[in-house]
Amino acid sequence: STTPVIRHLISISDLTNKEFETLVNKAISFKKIIKTENKPEILANHEKLLGKTVALVFSKRSTRTRISSEGAASFFGAQPMFLGKDDIQLGVNESLYDTTKVISSMVSTIFARVNSHKEIQDLAKHSSVPIINSLCDTYHPLQAIADIVTIKETFGELKGLKLTWIGDANNVINDLLIASLRSGINVSVATPNGIELDPKVIKVADEVSKDNGTSYELTHDPIAASQNANILVTDTFVSMGQEFEAQQKLKQFQGFQISTEHTAVAAQNWKFMHCLPRHKEEVTDEVFYSENSLVFPEAENRLYAAISVLDTFVVNKGDFSK
Ligand code: CP
Ligand code: NVA
Repeated sequence: STTPVIRHLISISDLTNKEFETLVNKAISFKKIIKTENKPEILANHEKLLGKTVALVFSKRSTRTRISSEGAASFFGAQPMFLGKDDIQLGVNESLYDTTKVISSMVSTIFARVNSHKEIQDLAKHSSVPIINSLCDTYHPLQAIADIVTIKETFGELKGLKLTWIGDANNVINDLLIASLRSGINVSVATPNGIELDPKVIKVADEVSKDNGTSYELTHDPIAASQNANILVTDTFVSMGQEFEAQQKLKQFQGFQISTEHTAVAAQNWKFMHCLPRHKEEVTDEVFYSENSLVFPEAENRLYAAISVLDTFVVNKGDFSK
């Protein structure tokens, strides 16, 4: 018999359109089961990972990702174990290789929040269980799934929507760009001069948009990018791990705060999104707390995204047809 190939969730780039759509739709159906308190369905799911454990190996802070992945583990009857950077030997007293071998021998999956993308790749290489990328410097796939779930439940039809990103060229937009282009959404990305998307992401975006008849543009003009946007999105200007260059980055982002200047030129049905945590320099209170803001449902949808991912990659061992 051959050893089965382990499917890891590293980035939205690694999925097919169909697989990505499955993750989104599954999140929406799990949300229904949970919101309607459908007991028989909940109990049936509760047996799926009963008696198992799920490790969260996090070397950075987290509110949403931690709560949603611990919640997802509980939904399937598994015990989550949060292993922060000060809790385990990793990085101080033990190598990533040894740590991965040991942890993966005892748990059903590892949610990992790391610094470099290379760390996620190394984890995936040496782990005997699925690795779920819970944010690295280059990608944040769980966020992208929750974001498309949120857009789908708000707009219904995804085809032809325009999403505008005004912000950094970071992990969140890298996956959100590919997720949008896979889903029929056109994208405009406005970054400050001198801050450009990763060429490796651009390459995937070119392929995916060509395959799907979607389009995207890269610009340094936030107002032009906002024209007719259905969804305006941003994120922190200073990601975790970049604190040392905060001053310099904040200077580069002057003029990038999303405000009514942007919503005024957006489509009439515009919505605002932000993965959170949010700082005032990224968006005015007026927009952030407006009726058009989806930020809190978006955060809540992280739970259903994590449940969908756990079901697909762990319960069904990467078989998307189940
Ligand atoms: N959006 C997000 O990933 O938030 P946390 O850093 O709080 O997990
Ligand atoms: N880009 C941000 C996202 C936080 C959820 C960071 O990496 O810190």
